[in-house]
Amino acid sequence: MLATRNLFLFSIVAVAFKLYGGVVAQADCARFYTVSSGDTCDAISAKKNVSTFQLATVNKAIIDPACDNLAVDEVICLGITGQDCNVTDIVQSGDSCAVITAAAGVPLSTLLANNPNINTDCSNIYPGEVLCTSTQAFDYGTA
Ligand SMILES: *[C@@H]1O[C@H](CO)[C@@H](O)[C@H](O)[C@H]1NC(C)=O
Ligand SMILES: *[C@@H]1O[C@H](CO)[C@@H](O)[C@H](O)[C@H]1NC(C)=O
Repeated sequence: MLATRNLFLFSIVAVAFKLYGGVVAQADCARFYTVSSGDTCDAISAKKNVSTFQLATVNKAIIDPACDNLAVDEVICLGITGQDCNVTDIVQSGDSCAVITAAAGVPLSTLLANNPNINTDCSNIYPGEVLCTSTQAFDYGTA
């Protein structure tokens, strides 16, 4: 009887964790977003001024690297308080880091530090990618 009751309670906790685990794990979330039908990670990033890297890194426990497991009505976190870059630029066709840094007035070293997904020669940016173009330095704990 006791075992059945414990199993029941365990199931409730397990379901609650499955539903809210991502949110519970991010009590220090600065901005939440509820996924809509048709959303992609880069579309959310563009709409909400969050970099492609920040969205991926904040949600790495729930969104896979290809971002093909977003679920409608799923609540994701856009940025952690104190490490939430909200000054962004959407890469256009033909853009280079030189063009982006000049337009944003940000040093290349800051752009690269705030977007650790960009390689050092900046050859892997792509149209639709969202970059943090803040002059403030953010620490995503990646190094
Ligand atoms: C995104 O940034 C732009 C430019 O600073 C601003 O006009 C816009 O309101 C911002 N959007 C959101 C959702 O914060
Ligand atoms: C961006 O973040 C700064 C500080 O982190 C905040 O003061 C500002 O209101 C934010 N801007 C927007 C558009 O959310």
